Amino acid sequence: MAWHSTSAHEQAATVNDSTPIPTSAATHGRPDGTLPTVAPPLWLLAELTYRCPLHCVFCYNPTNYAAHKNELTTAQWIAALQQARALGAAQLGFSGGEPLLRDDLETLVAHARKLGFYTNLITSGIGLTDTRLDALQAAGLDHIQLSFQDSTQELNDFLSSTRTFDLKKRVAASIRSHGFPMVLNCVLHRYNLPHVDKIIDMALDMGAEYLELANTQYYGWAHANRAQLMPTADQLREAESVVNQYRQRIGNRCTIYFVVPDYFETRPKRCMNGWGSVFLGIAPDGAALPCHTARSLPGLTFPNVIDTPLREIWYDSDAFNRFRGHSWMKEPCRSCDERFNDLGGCRCQAYLLTGDPANADPVCDKSPEHERVIQVVRAAAERTDDRTTEHPVLFRSDANSRRFIAQPGQPATEEPLRNGPGVRI
Ligand code: FES
Repeated sequence: MAWHSTSAHEQAATVNDSTPIPTSAATHGRPDGTLPTVAPPLWLLAELTYRCPLHCVFCYNPTNYAAHKNELTTAQWIAALQQARALGAAQLGFSGGEPLLRDDLETLVAHARKLGFYTNLITSGIGLTDTRLDALQAAGLDHIQLSFQDSTQELNDFLSSTRTFDLKKRVAASIRSHGFPMVLNCVLHRYNLPHVDKIIDMALDMGAEYLELANTQYYGWAHANRAQLMPTADQLREAESVVNQYRQRIGNRCTIYFVVPDYFETRPKRCMNGWGSVFLGIAPDGAALPCHTARSLPGLTFPNVIDTPLREIWYDSDAFNRFRGHSWMKEPCRSCDERFNDLGGCRCQAYLLTGDPANADPVCDKSPEHERVIQVVRAAAERTDDRTTEHPVLFRSDANSRRFIAQPGQPATEEPLRNGPGVRI
């Protein structure tokens, strides 16, 4: 299960807020002052594979993931983990695709644990048998985040184009019986926002201690399906009100995260807590990424952990330095007094919406391109037919990924490719 973009935004921010920077790691900066002082990474996201048994319409993996078939070997992953820990990374997410498709997951968890990482498995649950849970527990896994697509079988199975709802419920029970903290994740959008109460009820029934209601962020496959998934402002307001009522009612029993999607804000997020600030992602083939969707950005070459030391990648590579700090900014960010807070927002969103990753994130109402965001939100409000027979969604699949590869420049087009493998609702 791909780690959804909202998770990455939020978890990177959480780490930055709560985790002290390891004192053993030196900070780097350029003597000429052209680059900010660079602290070590705290969060390592190991995307073990792009392979996945699900076909989620909001997957954040690159739409051209089929072009990146190579995967690091076990030994290469272990070497990368060692280097990341030596740099100062403290928290480690194993993600994908579906990380359980790697037979060496338990081995990697055991190594990570020995190195002193706090380890988190981010999974759809498909393949998480009791036997593997036993092995992961023995290896020292700290935490599992299990994803659901909805509280109903119909929508859960439709959005992933699989029949997995009942299996996920069984997996949730097994995770709990093994004593892992129960952390559920559900990506929200137009189709399931009206079920948010049922989703919370489901999480409470499963004994969840944390529930991440991750409103869709529009990257990767979610961007291709943006017209279909974009909710209305009324839907979001209603869902947030329901979440707040539950928070009051249940107190500490379960912590519920709910973040409004960027498109409904007027100031951008400090994405990833700043480019090359705390987050270090490693893609299945070893490409090192400053954010999980950076691969979609043009004009950047991402160094690979197979042939470049991670320390060099983090501190010295063009890819990690390109958008560090604020000296790269153009107007209106360059002279904006809020630039130190939001750092210009999200580079990937700026690219997807304006074609230039160095532009201000157009979520910001000071951006000259903000109207693009308004238009998308307005179109969502004006849409009256929510049946996907009228608005077919594009499922993540190898075949559809190959179609993206055959049509470079797809992110700039507004119309997604059609004809996913799933049933229609
Ligand atoms: Fe925000 Fe890439 S997702 S910088």
